[in-house]
Amino acid sequence: MAVLNMKGGVGKTTISAHVFRHLYSHLRKRVLLVDLDPQFNLTQAVLTEKKYESHKADGRTIFSVMEDTAPASIFKVTSTVGSPPSLDQVSVKLRQFQNTNPEINLLLVPGDFGLVKYSMIEATNVLAPIKTRFSQFIEGCRQERDLVCIDCNPSSSFLTMCALQVATHVLVPVRPDRYSILGLRMLNRYIADLPILSRKPALMVLLNGVKSSGYDPTVENALRSDPDFGPATLANSLHISRVLEASPGYTGFATDKRGQGWRVTPRITAIVMELKSALGLT
Ligand SMILES: Nc1ncnc2c1ncn2[C@@H]1O[C@H](COP(=O)(O)OP(=O)(O)OP(=O)(O)O)[C@@H](O)[C@H]1O
Ligand SMILES: [Mg+2]
Repeated sequence: MAVLNMKGGVGKTTISAHVFRHLYSHLRKRVLLVDLDPQFNLTQAVLTEKKYESHKADGRTIFSVMEDTAPASIFKVTSTVGSPPSLDQVSVKLRQFQNTNPEINLLLVPGDFGLVKYSMIEATNVLAPIKTRFSQFIEGCRQERDLVCIDCNPSSSFLTMCALQVATHVLVPVRPDRYSILGLRMLNRYIADLPILSRKPALMVLLNGVKSSGYDPTVENALRSDPDFGPATLANSLHISRVLEASPGYTGFATDKRGQGWRVTPRITAIVMELKSALGLT
């Protein structure tokens, strides 16, 4: 599942982290989070800087999925792109069911600022082998995991293409503001018109940032009554909550926040149950 919207700040990372962390434990599924955004906010939200630096030094980041070695210049791409690494080599275990079934765990392929160079290289023939390598890696993950969630960056870039090529579903967070439906329409059109996609992923829309009081439902009503997007919009939405807010003082998941996680857990559970049936997870 690609969590995608070309619009920035709509909650892609918040949802990738907190909804899919809960999907792992509530449904007891093998979940993999992939941080495909060069800004790597997802990684920063759940790993301390010290841990991240140590994983990066071991080559445990998304960069190793794309290329074997970092070339001398950040604007160069390796000329020989070999087979992708195994998931074991590049992932970090974030959570696991201790005694019951250690196979059921939550893994993360940490992000890497090094990916930023792909947005500066125009030659598609240079990047094509990297896209193929990423696809092969995700194909391998498909065998090992019940669900792979890819947190995308907010632009229509090479990385967006990489995610769309492997995704069976696209989860689009949408804020209830006046520009959202327009953005959704553009994204839908973009996916429909992309020539490289042989299989079009299914769109799912999740409203994020709904106010708990004084909420104006105009945009939500328009979205739900839209013939294209209404049926694709999840019935449950995510409210604005301090618990979900990224804060400098907390590294980890919202539902794990001591004394506060309970505030958001019921709503996230409802979203997880909807995703379960939409995705056919047993
Ligand atoms: N439901 C929510 N309640 C409170 N804060 C939220 C909520 N959703 C998102 N935020 C906050 O809004 C900001 C943007 O969210 P987030 O980083 O998840 O968006 P994004 O779509 O991943 O952004 P980008 O396009 O930069 O990758 C963050 O500071 C996040 O903590
Ligand atoms: Mg993000």
